[in-house]
Amino acid sequence: MNLKGIIFDLDGVICSTDEYHYQAWKKMADDLGVYFDREINNRLRGVSRMESLNIILERYTGPALSQQALTDLATKKNELYRTLLGQMTPADLTHEVKTTLDTLRSLGLKLAIGSSSKNAPFILERIGLAGYFDAVADGNCIQHSKPDPEVFLKAAQFLDLAPAACLVVEDAVAGAQAGHAGGFAVACVGDAAQAGAGDYNLTGFAQLLDVVQTL
Ligand code: BG6
Ligand code: MG
Repeated sequence: MNLKGIIFDLDGVICSTDEYHYQAWKKMADDLGVYFDREINNRLRGVSRMESLNIILERYTGPALSQQALTDLATKKNELYRTLLGQMTPADLTHEVKTTLDTLRSLGLKLAIGSSSKNAPFILERIGLAGYFDAVADGNCIQHSKPDPEVFLKAAQFLDLAPAACLVVEDAVAGAQAGHAGGFAVACVGDAAQAGAGDYNLTGFAQLLDVVQTL
């Protein structure tokens, strides 16, 4: 096996916090009177909080919003989102994900997180994975969110591995594009797998165990 490490997106890959992002944005959009649905939500996967807000506001037809108003909307969404995150427990980490991670580690692979989220450390703590990964690159240490490869290149650097020795696992089309732009092989689950965005498009997380045998 030439593969040395795996870099996982967090929201929608390790845990279902993508659903909480949707619920929080939906409430903000409804309060503002802006149409928002799950299809639009798929475009927010992997992109930063402010870029997500800009995508939602493509449908906004009200009076012009000041920079402060935009910041307030993003803050309001994040507060709603963090309230939902605060209710998470280690029971929100599925048995499938935990046992697959443990098995990948037992094969000698280094494991990292590569997430655009500034809430990544809080989420990892909530689901009982604080300190589990060999490296965490997240929204707090990057200038450009996916589809820019920065977060994955940082994660590979933290692992001391070349991109060619790592597999990226993503649920976002923007995340798959980021992986490819950085020179990584990409396995997709969820929305990105349905879009066929990965080199490997999986029907479940545990299928990673089959993929790594081929790398
Ligand atoms: C990504 C999500 O993981 O993090 C995006 O897929 C989200 O939808 C981005 O916008 C930023 O998250 P946060 O928690 O910093 O607002
Ligand atoms: Mg994701």
